[in-house]
Amino acid sequence: MQIRKLEQESFHEYRDELIEVYEEVYDGQLNDPFFSSETYWSRLTAYATRNGFRAVAGKVDETLVGYALGYTLPAESRWWQGLRSAVDAKALVETGTRTFALNEIMVRKRWRRRGIARQLHDALIEEASEERATLLVLPDNVAAKAAYRSWGWQMIGELQPFDDAPVYDSMILDLTESQQDGDAGGGQGMRRAGQRG
Ligand SMILES: CC(C)(COP(=O)(O)OP(=O)(O)OC[C@H]1O[C@@H](n2cnc3c(N)ncnc32)[C@H](O)[C@@H]1OP(=O)(O)O)[C@@H](O)C(=O)NCCC(=O)NCCS
Repeated sequence: MQIRKLEQESFHEYRDELIEVYEEVYDGQLNDPFFSSETYWSRLTAYATRNGFRAVAGKVDETLVGYALGYTLPAESRWWQGLRSAVDAKALVETGTRTFALNEIMVRKRWRRRGIARQLHDALIEEASEERATLLVLPDNVAAKAAYRSWGWQMIGELQPFDDAPVYDSMILDLTESQQDGDAGGGQGMRRAGQRG
């Protein structure tokens, strides 16, 4: 698989490929307005306007097999407003440089369990300067939750991002440990999933 970065400036050019993968992956949910392809694309294009937006795609030959993307939460982010669990207020402070939000990661069905999501995840956070990353995952998403846990992510609480959205599990990944390891000579490789125990 080849991993390539999708440039923020020309992100709209990838629409058809990205939607094709999305429609395969979220096949059974597309009739739900929140998960419709149109709503999804609106969300992606909004993410793509954000500071710190990064997206990576995995291709095998000419087939897009998966992708991952996210952006840096701004200082005035309302990300944590939907949190339904009691959490130390200090954990909810955003500075504009503190937290990378991993918005999407998906792999086509026939390409799963080959470490592709892990490679996409690693490629996305490899260059992160943020001190932590966060994501939302549906509580019954066994595969994704198992993946995140094995990559070092931890549960922070339940969060409903919008009124019409489901209640998700909110997870967090500490990136400072790997940054310190990098400073000490561990290098970027220390950020990679699977090396987090
Ligand atoms: C979650 C998803 C991205 C994982 O993609 P993948 O390429 O299969 O993941 P990897 O091969 O890198 O697997 C990494 C680890 O995740 C865990 N995992 C992945 N699929 C799993 C499953 N079906 N059941 C249990 N654990 C699973 C395993 O620990 C796995 O490591 P292992 O294969 O060495 O045991 C993929 O299942 C997917 O696209 N799901 C639909 C979209 C989605 O739910 N995205 C996340 C939204 S929050």
